[in-house]
Amino acid sequence: MTVPPPIALLAELTHRCPLACPYCSNPLQLVRKDHELSTSVWLDVFQQAAQLGVLQLHLSGGEPAARPDLVELMQGARDAGLYTNLITSGIGLTPRRIGQLEDAGLDHIQLSLQGTNADLADWVGGYKGGFDRKMQVAAEIKARGIPLTVNAVMHRHNLDDLDRTIEMAQELGARRLEVACVQFHGWATKNRGMLLPTREQTAETKRKVAEAAQRLQGILAIDFVPPDYYAEYPKACMGGWGSAGVNVTPEGKVLPCHAAETIPHLQFETVKDRPLGDIWYKSAAFNAYRGTEWLPNPCKSCDRKEIDFGGCRCQALALAGDANATDPVCSRAPGRAAVDAVLAAAHAGDNNEFTYRIAAPPK
Ligand code: SF4
Ligand code: FES
Repeated sequence: MTVPPPIALLAELTHRCPLACPYCSNPLQLVRKDHELSTSVWLDVFQQAAQLGVLQLHLSGGEPAARPDLVELMQGARDAGLYTNLITSGIGLTPRRIGQLEDAGLDHIQLSLQGTNADLADWVGGYKGGFDRKMQVAAEIKARGIPLTVNAVMHRHNLDDLDRTIEMAQELGARRLEVACVQFHGWATKNRGMLLPTREQTAETKRKVAEAAQRLQGILAIDFVPPDYYAEYPKACMGGWGSAGVNVTPEGKVLPCHAAETIPHLQFETVKDRPLGDIWYKSAAFNAYRGTEWLPNPCKSCDRKEIDFGGCRCQALALAGDANATDPVCSRAPGRAAVDAVLAAAHAGDNNEFTYRIAAPPK
């Protein structure tokens, strides 16, 4: 099988973050500040990535603005010839710092949106005053004309606010809006009962997104990431394991996806021990689920196997207890009953409190 080079590198610069979102996709065990890669190692990783064939660099976290060397890292990414996207909550960015980042080579910003007003957004993000600070940052981005995507993370408590979310994205000057329903990895699993939308909400969202995408053609592009659990078929997670994207964690582990470390039988190597290209092409972990050879039944003989590659390995592990299994969200999967049981349990009983990612939220 011919393995193409990765197109995108997600650099998780830090796990530090002022927000406490109950759907955080970072691992339960966060990397401490003193274990983060140094500036010089990250700069070398960017050079290696460009030589490998990577075109896009996503600078992420945690909150990447928590890194004091962010401007230097941005400059290094530009020097490597990479297209740069800063994925941020906006907290920690000042007008001066945004200017410095722009001068250093910032191409695009992806700003998260927890809600369309301060009460909702600060409740979801667990950070009082966060919404107002985000709006100041958004105004600065707009004034500078930096290409902006708004990433609206949606769930049961803000999906009914979709119309206002779409309006806000336009007011903020975004060119793209991601209506991204929470995916259940990491901390989000602890809050599944609070976050899972209803089937009706999901259907209505799909209808509204299609209507708005049509109406706003040429003004605002809208992407919709539906909640997996209501899908008939799974997504090709990461476009297929080890096929298009690579993640590097704050301490330098190289992963095929952000949740891969939950799969206990895989060993992930670090950029401190081996060149990025060697890990991409030769490591056992990256080759474990590449292509379709490894697929279990019924995927092996399924007409969709080249479309979704059996779905998400981390979800298969989380829901079926086996990373080698067909993703249980698939209607053809032997393990689908596990998803139906989760759906039934999520909407039974009282689910009125978030379990926040870190400290208790402001009341
Ligand atoms: Fe995809 Fe496997 Fe389901 Fe077929 S059986 S749709 S390949 S997950
Ligand atoms: Fe790991 Fe989908 S999140 S394969």
